Amino acid sequence: MRKRIAVFASGFGSNLQALIDFSAKNDLVGDISLVFSNNAEAKALERAAKHGINSFHLDPADYANREEFEREILKVLEKERIDIIVLAGYMFLLTDLIISKYRNRILNIHPAILPSFKGAHGIKDAYDYGVKVSGVTVHFADAELDHGPIIMQEPVYIDQGDTVEKFEEKIHIVEHKIYPLAVQLLCQGRLRINGRKVEIL
Ligand code: GRF
Repeated sequence: MRKRIAVFASGFGSNLQALIDFSAKNDLVGDISLVFSNNAEAKALERAAKHGINSFHLDPADYANREEFEREILKVLEKERIDIIVLAGYMFLLTDLIISKYRNRILNIHPAILPSFKGAHGIKDAYDYGVKVSGVTVHFADAELDHGPIIMQEPVYIDQGDTVEKFEEKIHIVEHKIYPLAVQLLCQGRLRINGRKVEIL
């Protein structure tokens, strides 16, 4: 059965766009049924509207704590019968409320080779550190930041003379290529988790 996907995005939404483009060109075994943002100004919400995808926004400042905030999100996810959550630049750590409800059905993308350069500035942190190679990681999300079992990693080289902007561009190209592939594998039920190891069937 086709999976119903919710994409969570806080900002620009280029990974959301890559997923939309992939599903338009390929046989994504799922539908991008919903987009959620914590940020009313997120370009991701505009992209959803442009492509006729249902979207909603909730402001965490309107809730007493993160659990209350997530309880409201969950209500919408349940109403929309969402099977899979794809975090695409969602700048909030999920609590156990959503994690336990969607265990092993939440993907995240991180712009570095985990466990290096965790956190909100993976691209700049790697660049400033002076590494010659960094890259992109797609992994299952758990309640710890940038931590769950790793599905895919692809290296991106920092060539001499690359500015941080150039390096960022190279990272995004790889993100947009591999994230849809990982979402597809999850939709197809081809990811088997064994502890920290993920096998692609
Ligand atoms: C990406 O670099 C992603 O790896 C990170 O946040 C960024 C989101 O970019 N988690 P966009 O909003 O998808 O353009």
